[in-house]
Amino acid sequence: MGSEILRQMLWLILFLYSVAASESCGYQSCHLTKDGYINLHMVPHTHDDMGWLKTVDQYYYGVRQDTYPASVRSILDSVVEALKENSDRRFIWVETGFFWKWWLEQPEDVRDNVRNLVNSGQLEFVGGGWSMNDEATTNYLAIIDQMTWGLKKLNDTFGECGRPKVGWQIDPFGHSKEMASIFAQLGFDGLIINRIDYEDKNIRLAKKSMEFIWRGSDSLGASSDIFTSVMFRHYSAPSGLCFDSVLCRDEFLVDDPDNSEYNIRKKAEDFINNYVEEARKSYGTSNILIPFGDDFMYQSAGSYLKNLDKLIQFVNNNTFNGQKYNLIYSTPSCYVRAVSDEIKDKATLEVKTDDFFPYAAGTNNYWTGYYSSRPTMKNYVRYSNNFLQVCKQLNSLTNVTFLDPRLDALREAMGTVQHHDAITGTEKEHVTHDYVKMLHAGITGCEGIANQSLFKLIRSSNMKFETCPLLNVSQCAATELEDVLIITVYNPLSRNVSKHVRLPIIDGSYTIRDPEGNFLVTQEIPISESVLKVPGRTSKATKEVIFLAQNVPPLGFKSYFFEKTSNKFKTKSLNLPKKVSYKRKSPNDWSFSWKNITLDLTQPLLYYNGTDGDSYALKTGEEIHFREISPSVVYEGDLLTEIHQTFSDWVSQIVRMYSNEYFVEFEYLVGPIPDNTTGKEVVSRFSTATNSHSKFYTDTNGRDTLQRIRDYRPTWNTSVEPPRPEKNYYPVTSKISIIDDNEETMVSLLTDRAQGATSLRDGEIELLVHRTCIGEGAYEQLFEEAFGTGVVTRGSHYLVSGLLNVSDSENILAIEKDLEERKFLDSWVFFASNNNVSFEEYREKHVMEFSGLKRALPSNVHVLTLEPWAPDTILFRLEHLFEKDLNNELSKNVTVNVKDLFSTFEVLSIKEATLGANQWLENNTSFNFVNVSKTKLNDGKFEITLRPMEIRTFLIEIKFY
Ligand SMILES: *[C@@H]1O[C@H](CO)[C@@H](O)[C@H](O)[C@H]1NC(C)=O
Ligand SMILES: *[C@@H]1O[C@H](CO)[C@@H](O)[C@H](O)[C@H]1NC(C)=O
Ligand SMILES: *[C@@H]1O[C@H](CO)[C@@H](O)[C@H](O)[C@H]1NC(C)=O
Ligand SMILES: *[C@@H]1O[C@H](CO)[C@@H](O)[C@H](O)[C@H]1NC(C)=O
Ligand SMILES: [Zn+2]
Repeated sequence: MGSEILRQMLWLILFLYSVAASESCGYQSCHLTKDGYINLHMVPHTHDDMGWLKTVDQYYYGVRQDTYPASVRSILDSVVEALKENSDRRFIWVETGFFWKWWLEQPEDVRDNVRNLVNSGQLEFVGGGWSMNDEATTNYLAIIDQMTWGLKKLNDTFGECGRPKVGWQIDPFGHSKEMASIFAQLGFDGLIINRIDYEDKNIRLAKKSMEFIWRGSDSLGASSDIFTSVMFRHYSAPSGLCFDSVLCRDEFLVDDPDNSEYNIRKKAEDFINNYVEEARKSYGTSNILIPFGDDFMYQSAGSYLKNLDKLIQFVNNNTFNGQKYNLIYSTPSCYVRAVSDEIKDKATLEVKTDDFFPYAAGTNNYWTGYYSSRPTMKNYVRYSNNFLQVCKQLNSLTNVTFLDPRLDALREAMGTVQHHDAITGTEKEHVTHDYVKMLHAGITGCEGIANQSLFKLIRSSNMKFETCPLLNVSQCAATELEDVLIITVYNPLSRNVSKHVRLPIIDGSYTIRDPEGNFLVTQEIPISESVLKVPGRTSKATKEVIFLAQNVPPLGFKSYFFEKTSNKFKTKSLNLPKKVSYKRKSPNDWSFSWKNITLDLTQPLLYYNGTDGDSYALKTGEEIHFREISPSVVYEGDLLTEIHQTFSDWVSQIVRMYSNEYFVEFEYLVGPIPDNTTGKEVVSRFSTATNSHSKFYTDTNGRDTLQRIRDYRPTWNTSVEPPRPEKNYYPVTSKISIIDDNEETMVSLLTDRAQGATSLRDGEIELLVHRTCIGEGAYEQLFEEAFGTGVVTRGSHYLVSGLLNVSDSENILAIEKDLEERKFLDSWVFFASNNNVSFEEYREKHVMEFSGLKRALPSNVHVLTLEPWAPDTILFRLEHLFEKDLNNELSKNVTVNVKDLFSTFEVLSIKEATLGANQWLENNTSFNFVNVSKTKLNDGKFEITLRPMEIRTFLIEIKFY
């Protein structure tokens, strides 16, 4: 035979093999369940934290083994080998971040093995995000991003067989409603969760309601429904059956009845009697999911799985108490599928509409402290998300560095820090430092991208656009040292935005000109003593200059010309009507008045003495209030009013009102918290006369609003313990509100980072801003240090109050949303020095104003994502920003035509995908418990209609003009 024919035949064989292989993953690869048997779904798994006691790399490579003997690399090496030995075996992988690190190290033959395992369904990805994200302190956009990036890697590498179908959130400390909604929109078929309140769990076990339909969004309705199953015990293997040999040492199975060490019968009987039969009492079908694994297990997968092979053989060959069992290697998706097939009438399943916060692990053990732990890191994550979105947008708007790999570092760092021991602050301090380093490196890479795009858009090549990350301690080398600066304000929102820019300066006079050449009104305010002495601050600046960047265009920028000069020019009058006025009766007693409403407010700062315990939990003791220790100082001017207050040598505050802004800002500076012998939980409390009737409202991951009722849980009676503050703490990603009993007025506080908050008395809101936790139970005390002393945190609460039942422009919900968006995706300020250039010279050669959108979008919709995705292809998401039934224009459907929406490129084609962009929406025909059509397809049409709270995801093919 000619070699050509041989080659052809070989090709044909390979082709047929690959077709066969790709057809056997997914539900078809599930081992069969049997009628008349109890079907036991054995799910071998490893839970690999992307950092906790060790850093990501320490866990991956196996460094610091005395802290914790774990190497994720060994786990993957060992699992792949062990799966090859027996095609019945199954294994699931969750965290793409770890998987990808390993994959990049593998030679082609190992990769082929892995592809085969994935194609045959032996190795199945579940969840599939970069990490297993936390659900309390994360923001929906960061979650969507981290899921999308993990899912993209899987689709690019493995195609359809690599597509996860089930969520696997087995360790996050409570579960959010928005996460359920996200999984539904990702097109998943089910969700497995684990940590829910112990009282709730006991009741569910007793009522057989461990499985239910979870409705992720009231606005989205059934299209946000997802089948959810709560694990029976924990995610550990049943007792006596953990065969890792590194991290657990249960006796291996001996199945030779003649051997004196014969133990399999006893082990199997214990398993059936103490686990399976107990679980059967609490689940509604003949299927039981049984996890076999734990943290960092399967470093020697061969022996673990060999033992499981034997257990399967033995259980299936015997009856126990007259009952037959079908023990099979399985996966969460095979389990969900089997349950779905068995439940004939899906309508019998409970529909859950609330969430699983707060999480109590046991009596008086409310894991509500981590909502606020490590506040500076939580803020840095939010800051990084802001810049990631700016960077993606700028990258998409020009063709100079499209698909730049420098974007990946920030994408991946952001994916990593969404992990449930990262942004939560529950990791050790050296691990936090590692996360911050990753984010910093990511931001630096993205600055390179932003620079190149800005060169193009501004028509410059010799300037370097820098950000000033230390503006939060009023420090910025550019504004302090340079004589001429180009200050470029980029607006990532889809409508015009105005922003107050604050510039730390040392001394002297200056002018600021807008793109038209108008000299702008500025105001100077001395930097407060407390800020000047923040540890680590090295700036000589003693005051800040504030100016208003007005009407910065959508996805666009305006540049301002800052020049140090003693010449005086006439500034353009602003005539900003004050939107809020204040009276102050005593240091903590305020009265704020808006056009239609006056709010009397007492605002103490205080701390609870913490009691011993680990830092996940909040344990509040005695309450100690701060009093003002020196008279406050008031600064008033054209642009803003500031009142500087000092409460102790480690607590101070600035209350700030900008003339054209509706909100009152309370900017606190807390730390270093003294005394490392007792923990402190520092709180900012806002007390009003609002008759809020025990109710308050918090966001879920920055999206829908959930009602909370003090000392109450919507789905069970909680009366076991006396009420305590920590039992009423909830996660706040963006806001907490109270409404008066006539439902006419609302008071809201918006945050600049994730935080724990509550309402302990009617009319009151409190937010936990900083904490130390000194407890024997902790792996490490929570007493964060920086610059040789305790960490100082500076942050803001934004207070708004107003009427609910009025037209859009005055409606407090609209005012609040506008502010929330501007604080979440804040305009980014870039500084570029440009000494020896005059304004006229600069303006002649450069673009000083630019809009990425040809027209601003209506205020209830925005471009959520604009991100380079593939050659000539952009990942594009639109988001409706309002919930349904608010009875105004903003809650109506909205339609956007994207054909000629963008100013730098034309949209050639558009195709809708699931939220994770890893599957075309039209292909998402997977079975669904509730069988709703997810959304109406309009492929090829450029008109996109969004319902309230809807997010729609598209891949658009573009051509730059
Ligand atoms: C299981 O039962 C089958 C048939 O009854 C038998 O052939 C096999 O040897 C048994 N295996 C074990 C491990 O007992
Ligand atoms: C708000 O106040 C203005 C006058 O300041 C008044 O004309 C208007 O009717 C008020 N609106 C409501 C809803 O009370
Ligand atoms: C998934 O990957 C395949 C193969 O690389 C690609 O053809 C497909 O377009 C991807 N799917 C989506 C929705 O991007
Ligand atoms: C970007 O530029 C490259 C190189 O000139 C070109 O091949 C590509 O088509 C451009 N991309 C788009 C989307 O216009
Ligand atoms: Zn974990």
